Amino acid sequence: MIQKIKKAVIPVAGLGTRMLPATKAIPKELLPVYDRPIIEHVVKEAIAAGITEIILVTRSGKEAIENHFDAHYELEHRLEKKGKETILGTVKNIIPAGVKVTSIRQSDALGLGHAVLCAKHLLNDEPFAVLLPDVLVLDQASREKNHSFSSMVDAWNDTGIGQIMVERVDSEAIENYGVADLGTQLSEPFKSVPIKGLVEKPSPKDAPSNLAVLGRYILPSAVLGLLETTVAGVGGEIQLTDALDELLKLDGLNAFETDAGIFDCGHKRGFLSANLAVGMRDPLTKLSIKALIEKNGW
Ligand code: G1P
Repeated sequence: MIQKIKKAVIPVAGLGTRMLPATKAIPKELLPVYDRPIIEHVVKEAIAAGITEIILVTRSGKEAIENHFDAHYELEHRLEKKGKETILGTVKNIIPAGVKVTSIRQSDALGLGHAVLCAKHLLNDEPFAVLLPDVLVLDQASREKNHSFSSMVDAWNDTGIGQIMVERVDSEAIENYGVADLGTQLSEPFKSVPIKGLVEKPSPKDAPSNLAVLGRYILPSAVLGLLETTVAGVGGEIQLTDALDELLKLDGLNAFETDAGIFDCGHKRGFLSANLAVGMRDPLTKLSIKALIEKNGW
């Protein structure tokens, strides 16, 4: 029987160097995308797909992330007393009843693969999701919110084959990402295609395709055993991509493309684009942005 996906690992121990100086004192995951921290968008995406346990892999100095998901009684009390019900609704019960948020520490910055491995004792040999909090997945307005990630979970629940979200990127950007080789097969939105190989941050001339791995994974627990023996790769870090390249030879692994907007908020342009894209979904903000652009002739 295929075990359902109930747990999600969200690695939040990164230093956010690409977003300095904004991230000198503030965790990058708490920078706002429009009206809430980016990590709240990501956690809600996970919960909407049926995840009931969020495991944050964090580090010292980033306690504000855990605080964001905890109750803040004084603030709630004051808002209640002032009758500010709407704002109160945005800060209270961000995490619905029945969903647990657990956090563990990654004390050494040894890479994404190492971060995922830090959660092993909480995963109990169950399949799990990994969501990178730098990446915002904004489904087409015509679709149900968080449709893409939910579809990946459904694809696992139907097949028991791991799923990795991919997106076509420009060839100059390819060296920032894990890249999937699909051989001669073509991917198309909402179709899972078997991956033939994965390579972490190749140079544009060595890249097997322009399909970048973009921060959403549904994985069998077998990957944890592989991570235990994965040696340091690109950048001297234990790369999740390297363990996945082994996994696909044993269990298979599918690439999952979507038509969603995918924003890498780990760099300044991606972050600004994400803010604009989410802001434009609010009719009043959309009018203000359009007026601003027109006024300035941008
Ligand atoms: C990580 C992964 C990489 C993936 C990327 C997505 O890289 O190692 O495979 O494509 O996230 O954002 P990082 O951005 O941590 O260097």
